[in-house]
Amino acid sequence: MSCVVELKDVSFWAQGRRRVRDFSFPFEEGKTTALIGPSGSGKSTVLKLAAGLVSPDNGEVMFRGRDIARMGRQENILFRRETAVVFQDSALWENQSLFQILELPLRMHFPAMSKADREKRIESVVTEVGYKKDLGIRPAGLSMGEQKLVAFARALMCRPGLLYLDEWTESLDHSAAQRLIDMVQKLKDKGVSIILVTHDIQIIRDLADIVVMILGGQVFLRLTKEQIDGDEDLGRYVERGMAT
Ligand SMILES: Nc1ncnc2c1ncn2[C@@H]1O[C@H](COP(=O)(O)OP(=O)(O)OP(=O)(O)O)[C@@H](O)[C@H]1O
Ligand SMILES: [Mg+2]
Repeated sequence: MSCVVELKDVSFWAQGRRRVRDFSFPFEEGKTTALIGPSGSGKSTVLKLAAGLVSPDNGEVMFRGRDIARMGRQENILFRRETAVVFQDSALWENQSLFQILELPLRMHFPAMSKADREKRIESVVTEVGYKKDLGIRPAGLSMGEQKLVAFARALMCRPGLLYLDEWTESLDHSAAQRLIDMVQKLKDKGVSIILVTHDIQIIRDLADIVVMILGGQVFLRLTKEQIDGDEDLGRYVERGMAT
């Protein structure tokens, strides 16, 4: 098994409490790993640690064998270009237009790209995710669901090889959510490594190769898709483990 990201004995403290404890987990290259567990169990924190956006207080986070904390500037830029995150709260820049928000990753990572090509890329991704409103407005003018669409579009802008999705279909109606699930299926087929957080058993059944149940900031259980599909009791157990 080759590993895209690995957490090694990672602990993270916030407000005087250990929120993630001695967390070790190898995320497989080219696979989709779903993090599940009740609210407050540490899923989003583990996702941010794995994405290198939050630094562990103890332990190491490795990207393809390299400690993220020890990467040089150039290596870090390449790591950033390869990875993209959809945050649970979308986290769109409040004071920028949607167009500027979508343009930023392209400007950062492909500075030689022409304006016309940036516009073309933005137009094509926005159409694919099903966002239909004006791109001249700011995030405050959008519903939560629409913000999720734009956040997903932003994440796809630079064609990431490693995608982190934190409840990225939440607040969307069924058909909009299904469209994003189908898009992730296509990315999966192309070999993109995906680490996602969900409370939705259907997403687990449709997309996950590996399921990690987190309780109290620790790995409680690791299951493969075959184990979940092949055992009804286990399927029900996973469903209960996602309860909020
Ligand atoms: N930077 C921080 N400051 C204070 N508390 C934090 C911080 N990061 C995480 N926590 C706390 O750690 C716990 C785990 O949070 P986290 O957001 O990872 O949970 P979660 O499993 O994603 O929950 P949900 O399903 O509700 O999104 C929570 O109690 C949260 O308040
Ligand atoms: Mg969360």
